[in-house]
Amino acid sequence: MSTTEILGTIGELHDRLGQARDRAALTGGDNRVVLVPTMGALHAGHLALVRRAHALGGIVVVSIFVNPLQFGAGEDLDRYPRTLAADLAALEAENISFVFAPDAREMYPSGASDTRVTAGAVGSLYEGAARPGHFDGMLTVVAKLLGIVTPDAAVFGQKDGQQAFLVQRMVTDLNVPTAIDVVDTVREPSGLALSSRNRYLDDAQHSAAQALFAGLTAAADAAYAGPAAALSAAQARIDAQSLVKLDYLVIVHPETFLAVPSDYRGPARMLVAARVGTTRLIDNVSISLG
Ligand code: PAF
Repeated sequence: MSTTEILGTIGELHDRLGQARDRAALTGGDNRVVLVPTMGALHAGHLALVRRAHALGGIVVVSIFVNPLQFGAGEDLDRYPRTLAADLAALEAENISFVFAPDAREMYPSGASDTRVTAGAVGSLYEGAARPGHFDGMLTVVAKLLGIVTPDAAVFGQKDGQQAFLVQRMVTDLNVPTAIDVVDTVREPSGLALSSRNRYLDDAQHSAAQALFAGLTAAADAAYAGPAAALSAAQARIDAQSLVKLDYLVIVHPETFLAVPSDYRGPARMLVAARVGTTRLIDNVSISLG
């Protein structure tokens, strides 16, 4: 018998979540709510977020919504994988009680929200430069989900490092009373970061895509010699793979997400984005610049 409830409307979600919270409070259970926002096409990386959510609170809500606002013209909104039946089976196996899976009309009753959250200057860099408007659309839907679910905490993946940074900054700047928890990237044994878009890759592309993490690892090893050495070590590994077309490689300060100067020493994050065939992949690791 199914224990996972699929809630398609905000009204249903409020009813069922309210009841679950009341029941937990009455029985001395944990009535904190933790949200895991997703666009579905779940893989082991998402399940790591779900497990972290279970560790953080009593009632876990997973949202599944492919948010049109964060896809630009010509991006993969139409072909973005939609695997609802498999997603629900995976969430049921993780003992998820509530899946919020609204349609676009429920989330954007007037077509699209006129009010948007702006991601500011950092939102126009790196992924934001390649995908104009992406982060405004992402923050807008995350703000809506936080407003709808009113979770005590929400869990995001470090694989989308710029997204995690911008979400954290949004809740700080807008005084949203939700703690943001960021979970380490889950990788294949080859090092390739798990991503819903990996399923677009054929065998040769899949094997070439491993150059991204190989490049980041080479950079981490060379980081004792400073930013220039780390960048060139990564670039050499990635450029050696002809199927991988590098978009950007940058070392950012973890607190500002701005590129570090050439004489910077200390903790940092290296970000990479590349195209493999028509598939855009991103990854990042933390590095320590000597
Ligand atoms: O990371 C994602 O899957 C999406 O950007 C998110 C956070 C669910 C917002 O649509």
